[in-house]
Amino acid sequence: MTALGKLDSSNLNGGQKLSIKYFTVAAALFGAQVLFGLLAAIQYLQPDFLFGVLDFSVNRMVHINAMVVWLLFGFIGSVYWLLEDESGVPVVGLGLANLIFWVFTLAVVVVVAVYLLIQIGDGTHTSIWLINEGREYIEAPRWADIGIVVCVLVFFYNVAATFTKGRYTGVGGVLVLDLVALAGLYLAGMWFTPNISIDQHWWWWVIHLWVEATWEVLVGCLMAYGLMKTLGVRRKIVETWLYIEVALMFGSGILGLGHHYFWIGTPEYWLAIGGFFSALEPIPLVAMVVHAVFDAGHHKLKSSNNPALAWIIAQAFGNFFGAGVWGFMHTLPQINLYTHGTQWTASHGHLAFFGAYVTMVIAFFYIALQKWRGNVYMSGNLVGAWKWKWALALLHIGMIAMTMALLISGYEQSHIERAIEGSSWAGYFAAQAHPWFIQGMQWRMIGGWIFAAGFVLLVWDLLTIGRKETRAAVVPAPVD
Ligand code: HEM
Ligand code: HEM
Ligand SMILES: [Fe+2]
Repeated sequence: MTALGKLDSSNLNGGQKLSIKYFTVAAALFGAQVLFGLLAAIQYLQPDFLFGVLDFSVNRMVHINAMVVWLLFGFIGSVYWLLEDESGVPVVGLGLANLIFWVFTLAVVVVVAVYLLIQIGDGTHTSIWLINEGREYIEAPRWADIGIVVCVLVFFYNVAATFTKGRYTGVGGVLVLDLVALAGLYLAGMWFTPNISIDQHWWWWVIHLWVEATWEVLVGCLMAYGLMKTLGVRRKIVETWLYIEVALMFGSGILGLGHHYFWIGTPEYWLAIGGFFSALEPIPLVAMVVHAVFDAGHHKLKSSNNPALAWIIAQAFGNFFGAGVWGFMHTLPQINLYTHGTQWTASHGHLAFFGAYVTMVIAFFYIALQKWRGNVYMSGNLVGAWKWKWALALLHIGMIAMTMALLISGYEQSHIERAIEGSSWAGYFAAQAHPWFIQGMQWRMIGGWIFAAGFVLLVWDLLTIGRKETRAAVVPAPVD
């Protein structure tokens, strides 16, 4: 170990060196997500802005595809971060893993460049293969789809083989089973069918079953590891919680899929199934809040890494409010009839993705940085602590402002376009032109700028935190 506070890769094991690469690309793509989100938000207020140069449809697509990809990079990095620690052996096939990292990154760059260079044109079999497959969130063309499958298979092999060679902890076992489901589901979004109902039916298997089942279980594993690292919580406690959460998550989330089958031409029984099971989905999220808050309280918030712990607690609450409360609000078919596809949905989408996933990946950034700088002290009166605190605050204030503004616009749309005007074409425009809608869009813009400022501060902090520290971290002793 070298001097405290100095970035030194010899502090890291092989898997962790690879994580740093994944985290770096993840942070850069997070920046791209914010940039394209801002452009799309400006276009809501000034529809002429960049019209014909960079259309709203393209900005929106890059915004949400960048999100999916950077979160996946963040998850892969986090798994490589804990892999050697948990399994007790070096990563199997690290050379291949490094190669795949470069292939994956290059593929992402090419896909985005093509999105930007070829913005409009006919939808043909060639465009599906080379330009854009056209399913929201996973628009990557088919060549990239196949490449992604290969990259994910290598990742899966590395994780499963490493645990098999070393030891399987509870976290490791859940993680490997979850990755089978996560990777397998991606295939459901690769078939082409000209029937839009069938197409949407399968597409939701990826989108819903990712974020409301497999991704949730993955962050459950990350939370378990994060609580052991930041607070020294005992393994048997976090693993018991993990099993309970996973059972509840799959118990409600799998059939909860039905809340996307209300109005796409699927049989009517989905109204009852989707309404019932998705209404149960907040329960595991409450369990996660109890778990994190109980452990934090029990350990009197004595942590070796305050920024990471703060983001872990933010995850517990953000997940509960964004997914649980904001999801529950519109999940019953009687309500969804009015709110479907309005800004209400966007309000939930933003808070849920941020609360559940962005927070956890940022927590892992901080866990990684601490060790990279030689296990430097990162609690209490850390030098320059204002930066991580203000980044945390600005990102939250910006996100909550955007969420509330979108919710108000969504209420207005549900009321005027749906309830009063009966979902007519004229009703759509009446709602879009109403001052309450426009004001919501203006407030969202302000929230977006605050969020962007928080992002800049976060990056600055990630680059500098711990640099001027000379004290060593107090490693938390495991206690019940
Ligand atoms: C972290 C977990 C979650 C994330 C990231 C998430 C994200 C999203 C996103 C982005 C959409 C919009 C999809 C589209 O483009 O049409 C959506 C839709 C929806 N979500 Fe979630 N969600 C989560 C959990 C939940 C939960 C737990 C519930 C219910 C309790 C829920 C209920 C809904 C409903 C009903 C819709 C459809 C909205 C509509 O009809 O327009 N979500 N979700
Ligand atoms: C500067 C900050 C941001 C701004 C200005 C912004 C703006 C936007 C805009 C204008 C859209 C298109 C909405 C529409 O089609 O009506 C959008 C969609 C979306 N954004 Fe953001 N965004 C920001 C940050 C984020 C973050 C941090 C996340 C999550 C991690 C996120 C997740 C999403 C999702 C999931 C959608 C699709 C929502 C849906 O289909 O319902 N955005 N965003
Ligand atoms: Fe869903």
